[in-house]
Amino acid sequence: MSAEPYDLGRHLNDHYAGPAGQGEGLLARLHEAFRAAGREPDRLSLDDIAGIDQLHLGGRTASRSLATLGTVAPGERVLDVGCGTGGASRLLADEYGAEVTGVDITRDFVAVASWLSAATGLAERTRFLCADAAAVPLAAGSVEVVWCQHALMNMPAVPRVLAEWHRLLVPGGRVLLHEVVAGDNREPLALPVPWARSAATSHLRSREALERCLALAGFVPETVRDVTQAALAWRQTRSEHESIAAVSAAGQSMPGPALIFGDDFPLMGRNLRDNLAADKVRILEGVWRRGNR
Ligand SMILES: C[S@@+](CC[C@H](N)C(=O)[O-])C[C@H]1O[C@@H](n2cnc3c(N)ncnc32)[C@H](O)[C@@H]1O
Repeated sequence: MSAEPYDLGRHLNDHYAGPAGQGEGLLARLHEAFRAAGREPDRLSLDDIAGIDQLHLGGRTASRSLATLGTVAPGERVLDVGCGTGGASRLLADEYGAEVTGVDITRDFVAVASWLSAATGLAERTRFLCADAAAVPLAAGSVEVVWCQHALMNMPAVPRVLAEWHRLLVPGGRVLLHEVVAGDNREPLALPVPWARSAATSHLRSREALERCLALAGFVPETVRDVTQAALAWRQTRSEHESIAAVSAAGQSMPGPALIFGDDFPLMGRNLRDNLAADKVRILEGVWRRGNR
């Protein structure tokens, strides 16, 4: 009897958007939640949706930090890899004037990202495709920037993904990363975390291993920095806020990450905080330039 092949796309769809066929879809759940909060789902502000479109540590502040570090400029073509519900794509279009294509393997996230861009008036400068980061349906040399926030730790085959980025970037193009990497403490992670419910589906690698992969794929580092302490402080504050919100049950607040990750999101957040504090995970931000291989 042969084991069923591991289906990365199906696993990630189940993890992020709920097992297919169970209950109403993510899009319908979010529409309903905005209505319950007194908002019309087809007319939303970027502030309204910040709780469900920034699926990384540090929220919009962290995305601005990376965009500034990587000097994203008006008119640049950006590929947002593992774009989730599209928060960074919209921020880069709205605040930096970029033309953004987001790509994600989670089908429901792509649908939500497209809806949120239309609802916030950014549909013309952001578009979203459902595809694996290792096989993006775009022409070679079609983007100046590859952007990736908190997605590589979901990807078992990083060298294939980096080879794809090399193909997609123009000569001299940049890779901007804000990623979770393994720390020096190799004891088991506290689980679940926002990207995985089991150790088998978390694909963390050390900073050194990631930097080696990038070098082998033909990327030259420009600036790389460890931003773990800032991420930990942010997560700490959020966990305190989430525990207060849970007891006060205010009702009218805008939809938040529990609608995406499920009711155990506060536990995922506390585990992430504890993993950061124990040096089981670290957060990296950096810019690499495409060289020759
Ligand atoms: C933690 S979320 C981060 C989303 C977004 N970058 C953000 O910061 O808001 C990770 C995302 O990476 C996507 N992802 C993981 N592996 C992928 C792959 N091989 N190809 C495309 N997307 C992938 C997941 O579906 C998920 O949306």
